[in-house]
Amino acid sequence: MEDLKVAIGSDHGGYEYKEKIIDYLKARNIPYVDLGTHTKEACDYPEIARAVCERVISGKSNRGILVCGTGIGMSIAANKVRGIRAALCGDTYSARVSRAHNNANILCLGERVIGEHLALDIVDIWLKTGFEGGRHKRRVDLIE
Ligand code: RB5
Repeated sequence: MEDLKVAIGSDHGGYEYKEKIIDYLKARNIPYVDLGTHTKEACDYPEIARAVCERVISGKSNRGILVCGTGIGMSIAANKVRGIRAALCGDTYSARVSRAHNNANILCLGERVIGEHLALDIVDIWLKTGFEGGRHKRRVDLIE
């Protein structure tokens, strides 16, 4: 596994999965920063998305994970940030290929859409998969 430095964030709709993912990261000694939210009180997902994306763009973290109710708001907001490639994943195949082919640097998840164990499997595969480069690099470069 590459040297991971994870930035994680959620709104109230993704708060419980964020905490579960943090437990996963702690259990594996994967360095992370939690950029909120820190309570279940309603908050605005674009602000959390921006904080996590800015951290990834700065290089202080090399992967970001964003959770909201559907994952959709987070992915829309994150993909507005130049240099961010956010993948909303609801299955493990997409999670793996979003890394291998798209070099996704942000994973988005929907707490109200997928079960907790699937979410954690997606995180596991997404963090462990590297970018394949080659023809995929050319395509990612075209996006950038
Ligand atoms: C919050 O109710 C909900 O809109 C948010 O978590 C997310 O699903 C937005 O895309």
